[in-house]
Formats: sequence, C-alpha cells, structure tokens
Amino acid sequence: MVAIPPTPTPDTPVDSAVSKDVRSLGINSNHWYVVARADEVTDKPLGVMLWGEAIVLFRDTNGHIQALEDRCPHRQVKLSQGEVVDGELECVYHGWRFNAAGKCTEIPYLADNQKLPGCTIRQFPVQELDGFIWLYPGDRDQLIAADIKPLGLPEWDHLNYIATVSIIDVEAHYSFLIENLMDMYHGRLHDDYQAWADPVLANLEMTDQRVDVLYDAQSYYRIDKIWSVSQLFFPALRKLHPEELRVSYIYPHWVSTLGQDFKICCLFCPISPTHTRAYLVHFTSLQAFHRLHKLPVPFRRWIKNSLFGSAQKMLDGLVAQDVLMLEQEQQSYNENPLYKGPEFNRAMISVQKLIRQQAQSRVASIHNGT
Ligand code: FES
Ligand SMILES: [Fe+2]
Repeated sequence: MVAIPPTPTPDTPVDSAVSKDVRSLGINSNHWYVVARADEVTDKPLGVMLWGEAIVLFRDTNGHIQALEDRCPHRQVKLSQGEVVDGELECVYHGWRFNAAGKCTEIPYLADNQKLPGCTIRQFPVQELDGFIWLYPGDRDQLIAADIKPLGLPEWDHLNYIATVSIIDVEAHYSFLIENLMDMYHGRLHDDYQAWADPVLANLEMTDQRVDVLYDAQSYYRIDKIWSVSQLFFPALRKLHPEELRVSYIYPHWVSTLGQDFKICCLFCPISPTHTRAYLVHFTSLQAFHRLHKLPVPFRRWIKNSLFGSAQKMLDGLVAQDVLMLEQEQQSYNENPLYKGPEFNRAMISVQKLIRQQAQSRVASIHNGT
C-alpha cells in the first residue's frame, strides 16, 4: 500500500501534484486486454486492433480461439481478409496458409524443388472467458513467471445476474475514459438517467495494481421485490436511499458496484493514443429473490437469457453522454496539450499515478529484456 494523497482544498488544486502528462502514455502490455465479444468470433477471421497492433482472431476446427498478427509475411496484406480452411488461416491474395502457431503450412503453387519459408507470424496468448475474448500482448516469460490472469466476470454465467453490454468507441486516450469512470462527481451529466446522486468520496486505497475508491452516495433503485424491476422503466417509482458506490481501477480494467444490486465493469481495449474501445457490462442482481433460487435451473436460465440487455437503453444513453465529453476533452488536449485544468477529486491523482507506474513498469521490463 502507498500513502493516500492529502485531500485538496479549493485553494490547492490537485493538478499541482501531477508533474507528468498522462495523455500520451502507452499501456502496460503485460496484462490481459479484451479485444472482442466471444460471439463476434466465428470461423470467419475477425480483424481487431490493440494499441497499434493489428490482430486477427478466428476459431479453429475445435472451436478454440486463435490470435495471430494480422499481416501476411508474403506481401503484408491483412490476413483477416482471408478465410479459415481446415482450422488454418488462408491469405486471400496468394492462398498461403498459416497454422495456429503462425507457421506457414502451405503454398498452393510451391514447386517440388521449393521449400516452405521459415517465416512465422506472431501468435498471441488468447482465451475465451465469461463471454469475452481476452488477449495478452505482452512479454510471454512475464506471463508465466508472474502467473498473470485475466480479470474475468464471474457474474456472466451466474444465474442470478442479468447482463447488458454496451460498446464504448471513443476518439480519446484511455486515461480520459478511466478518469471519467472513477470520478463519480459527474452525475450531473447523467441526470436524465438517474443512476446515482450526492456522492462524497469517503475512502481511497491504492496499490501498484489498483485504485479503490468508496463514495457514500444515494441510489435511485432498490431491487428487492419482483415489481421493483419496473423502477428501471418508470422514474416515478424510484426513491433515493443511501448506498455505497465503489469504483475500482484494476489495471487496465474498471469494476464498480452500487449497493448489492448493481455491478458494472468496463473492459478496456486501448486502440491507439487517441482511440479507445471498451465493453461496458452492466449486471442487475437477482440475489434478493430467494424464491427464484428454488426454481428449476433451466427456467432460471431462461429468465436470465430473456432479460439479457434489459438495461440497454440506459447503458447506451450513459455511454453516449460520456463519449461526447471525452471526445471534447481529447480535442481540447490536442489543441492545447500544456493546459492543466484545476481538479478537486483526489482519486484522479491516484488514477494518473497508476497509469504512469504501469506504463513505466512496461518500459522498464522492455529495457531489462523481460
Ligand atoms: S500476400 Fe498473403 S499469400 Fe501473398
Ligand atoms: Fe458517466
């Protein structure tokens, strides 16, 4: 644990504590990032981008996810434009084939006296977990030595949680997005969606891997009776009541809970220094409905699946409002990168510190050859 920064007063804006700009910092690639939803990846190649690296995803004959560099070593065209044949990736241009390890296995016009080239394309550790595709773009030795695991979403398959997914695609550095998610003082922006109210930062803890912030807040929703789900649709039924609002930056992702009933995660896929993609996953808990737990599992699964996406309108609405702000922040930063606005949420100091530490730790590991 490290010391918690002092609470700034209105006379001591926290920007004075931020000596280095975070808006152009790279990512620590020694983590698992989310590059797609699991159902987006089929036996047709899918091209994705993670911090400037073009990657092609596909399912092999066993349905397992494979991830290769999206660049044919022959003429450097995109392999994601090709197709999967017998579980291998075939380039659309001259038909060279590559296996899951990235080795060239076939060239249709190879003469008897010619040999397959030894060139290998980069293969990435990848796994399908809890509805998403998690990819590790960093150092392999470090992955094994430190046993680095993906964050995962245990609620995804849990019968007591109803999920909704919204995709964030924003022309902004990832630091703008994580600061937005950790700064609960921006409820003003979402007034018409009434997600939470009156937050007061009550506690902040930080390690070299995460920042945890507790806000004392008010929630509009309480999901304790079957009819209470209708609060999601009828504002008149909502009543403010105190709830703990917890937000955590578990580098590079974000997890938040509002009381017992709601959990939201944001799974990051930083694409470039000015473009971030992320998956916002909202869970409504049905834990309070004890009778529901006694029902047959297939019925509970049917309920879970039928209600999938029930918070879509709210979630998409929140995302659209945030994206508008984040893109304005990025544009203003582009025009005047030296400007530092005053800041009064001390969680922002810790978030920026973690971003910096993680970026530096990756740079250090590259220099050390690990
Ligand atoms: S460019 Fe891919 S096979 Fe020729
Ligand atoms: Fe927001």
